[in-house]
Amino acid sequence: MCGIVAYIGHKQARPLILEGLKRLEYRGYDSAGIAVIDGSLNIARAVGRVSVLEEQLEGRRGFSGTIGMGHTRWATHGGVTEVNAHPHRDDRHGLAVIHNGIIENYAALKTYLQDKGHTFSSQTDTEVISMLISELYEGDLEAAVQAALREVTGAYAIAVICEKEPDTLVVARKGSPLIVGIGDGEYIVASDPSAIVAHAAQAFTLDDYNVVKITRDGFRTSNLHNAQVTLNPKIEQLEIDLAQIELGHYRHFMQKEIYEQPQALRNCCGGRLDRKEGRVVLGGLSSISKELSKLRRVVLTAQGTALHAAMIGRYLMEDLAKIPAQTEYASEFRYRNPVVEEGTAVVAVSQSGETADTLAALHEARERGAMALGVINVVGSSISRETDAGVYLRVGPEIGVASTKAFTGQVAVLTMITMFLARKRYMSADQCSDLIGEMEALPGKIERILEQDDRVRRVTEKYVERENWLFLGRGYNYPTALEGALKLKEISYIHAEGMPAAEMKHGPIALINEGMPAVFIANRGRQYEKVMSNIQEVRARKGHVIAVATEGDDRITKYAEDVLWIPDVPEPLSPMLAVVPLQLMAYHAAVLRGHDVDKPRNLAKSVTVE
Ligand code: AGP
Repeated sequence: MCGIVAYIGHKQARPLILEGLKRLEYRGYDSAGIAVIDGSLNIARAVGRVSVLEEQLEGRRGFSGTIGMGHTRWATHGGVTEVNAHPHRDDRHGLAVIHNGIIENYAALKTYLQDKGHTFSSQTDTEVISMLISELYEGDLEAAVQAALREVTGAYAIAVICEKEPDTLVVARKGSPLIVGIGDGEYIVASDPSAIVAHAAQAFTLDDYNVVKITRDGFRTSNLHNAQVTLNPKIEQLEIDLAQIELGHYRHFMQKEIYEQPQALRNCCGGRLDRKEGRVVLGGLSSISKELSKLRRVVLTAQGTALHAAMIGRYLMEDLAKIPAQTEYASEFRYRNPVVEEGTAVVAVSQSGETADTLAALHEARERGAMALGVINVVGSSISRETDAGVYLRVGPEIGVASTKAFTGQVAVLTMITMFLARKRYMSADQCSDLIGEMEALPGKIERILEQDDRVRRVTEKYVERENWLFLGRGYNYPTALEGALKLKEISYIHAEGMPAAEMKHGPIALINEGMPAVFIANRGRQYEKVMSNIQEVRARKGHVIAVATEGDDRITKYAEDVLWIPDVPEPLSPMLAVVPLQLMAYHAAVLRGHDVDKPRNLAKSVTVE
């Protein structure tokens, strides 16, 4: 996902922009660039890391201005080259554009602009925006940006500067996030708060079709027809602080966020579990409480790790609240011509709140009459702004590309939503109170699991050269097996497949060969005996079994080469424990293989394009 940082104020723009780009590196990118007005417009771009760009700027003149902008590009249109890196300059007025999103009608616009005599150097859709603004520029940058954006279709978050108006920064948004941080006579604009929080305590998020003209004296927000608009929501206090987005004593953000899970769960559940009264308090759902009483079906939609959390939510809702529920890959649901019956709620599960397919699936479901709910981490994100109601994870910013604390946060929120719904139906206050007690014990139990970290590393080391792993689980922990496989794949690049343990006999068991790692989630639960049978099927074929099992289980050690222990817990809550050894295993495999844990190849933190 591309990253945008722009600045206007009294400080040197270059160091501040480069620092901001580094805070956005976790979003995933393959090239970077910067533009500064220092008398005239100067641009530098580089393939690779922000540090490569920084080296390129050493000693270069023309980058000492107090207005500028920078960009990290995750290639969509056009290859990974310096020419395709942002910012993109026009060919007439010394203006530059950086962009996050996709312009769908860029080809037609490019032809029109070429007919007008503009010459292009890149293959990007973004260069079309810069040339279009240039074509429409008549001495008023804000007006030219408004006019240009009236012509484009697609998604954008853009920042524009022009050497003819060195005291003006114009930014605009439709479908891709953009936040304006407000300092003292200075403004910093970025794709997410992590690049702002060091320089501003207050900020506002642009709405779709907002254009904001910023000078050192203030800002003005308008729509594409230059009508003044009020901010919605208004200026807010930035909720995150620097410590949350810095590594501290950890080696990687993923490691930090695995270890943050006990505290993240406390924050997620804090103030929401009323054990004494046996009820769950979810302020975000209070406005639709009556509608929720008439709920007849829940469709949970997401991608990736969030989908695995959604799958656990499905088991919870049917098991504990007796509500028919289904999960859908958002990318499939949006195009499938789905049937959405009356009394359906669609729940979009998303850490970033920016996943394009999940946002589109939510739109699709709403169009068909569903109530739209969100289970999201990033406050004010695009998906959160499209829902009727929702529950934020409150686990803090997740920087590592591989999602960890957001997964356990999503499962915790889905558990609380299930309990909230169940109390309207079949669950008694006492039953709810008992489950609340178990949820409140989870952080301590995760801390116990984390004490095994070195043991997990040693087990991982035994198998880290193996190129194919299986992950198997049943019931609530079938999705956990999928999540374990995804974690290993996405950061260690080892091929791994997750599936229901029973599915093995329908084909995958043919894969088992001598020493092949098969990770079983074999905690105490309704299907424990069945899982034990599946384990023996693998052992009979000389596969190596790594089992996640419940402390005190003295049978499992007879069948598994290696056992990773989790404390006893009611089965519906077990995924939040069983996933932790799998997260640690994936982390250690990546480190042992020498990979960049927080910036795995080809991956972005949030997939904001289809
Ligand atoms: C998870 O480790 C991956 N980074 C990825 O699957 C992610 O969960 C997926 O892209 C969904 O992202 P979201 O939660 O921000 O919508």
